[in-house]
Amino acid sequence: MSESYTWLITGASRGLGLEMVRQLLQSSSNTIIAACRTPDNAAVLKSLHTDAKGTLHVIQIDTADEASIRASSTIVKTILGERGLDYLISNAAILEGGNDVTAFSFSVPSFRRTLETNVIGPAIVADTFLPLLEKGNRKVLVNISSGLASIGLDFGDIAAVYSISKTALNMLTYKQAKAKPEFIVFCVDPGWVKTDMGGEKAPLEPHESVSKVLKIVADATSQSSGKFFRYDGEVLAW
Ligand SMILES: NC(=O)c1ccc[n+]([C@@H]2O[C@H](COP(=O)([O-])OP(=O)(O)OC[C@H]3O[C@@H](n4cnc5c(N)ncnc54)[C@H](OP(=O)(O)O)[C@@H]3O)[C@@H](O)[C@H]2O)c1
Repeated sequence: MSESYTWLITGASRGLGLEMVRQLLQSSSNTIIAACRTPDNAAVLKSLHTDAKGTLHVIQIDTADEASIRASSTIVKTILGERGLDYLISNAAILEGGNDVTAFSFSVPSFRRTLETNVIGPAIVADTFLPLLEKGNRKVLVNISSGLASIGLDFGDIAAVYSISKTALNMLTYKQAKAKPEFIVFCVDPGWVKTDMGGEKAPLEPHESVSKVLKIVADATSQSSGKFFRYDGEVLAW
């Protein structure tokens, strides 16, 4: 019997999350639980059922809302039955205000919203699904980060609030890896990609970035844990 895998991906309504689901559905080995903020508006995601070899379940999770995250665990347990979760990918995020936001020019409500969505949300998601990851065979937890998280890469004063949130997400990843050495926990920068967030000028197409990110995820071993990868597999400076 061939191996089968279970996946949960947040922010699957569009962009990189949607492309992850699309690519994973090309294999009959995969059962994908695609979480999005508003399933009623996720027509493209729901249409991926057609021609899919894998199995798709669409559920609701707003990563800025703890109640929504916690409530989803009952639904996910029902979907999985006796199975655990092999792969959990925290992908949902927001970037508000673009590059113009600096450490001296930011909106306080936007700063709070960004930390809720990009850092606290992924922390609650991982905590909520921990028992299901423990039951899974692979035990892989991935946080989708950004090159802008890196202090070492020195991107200057741009996109300060978003960058701060992703640096915090990287530290969350490190702490999760240390707290759960039996898991494989790491963060990945998907590169600069043409999505609503990345914009038209981005050099990478979603399918190029996602195919490489998914290869890192599928090939991950205990050696990957606690690291910060770029989509091409290079280990990035914190
Ligand atoms: N694109 C790039 O160049 C780039 C570069 C570096 C890192 N990244 C990272 O890659 C990941 C995906 O980015 P993307 O380019 O695909 O962005 P995107 O096109 O803006 O899509 C963002 C996704 O996150 C979801 N989302 C936002 N807030 C949410 C919430 N509170 N609850 C649930 N879902 C929420 C959105 O759902 P709705 O449809 O409901 O809004 C959407 O599905 C993010 O973590 C981002 O930071 C992207």
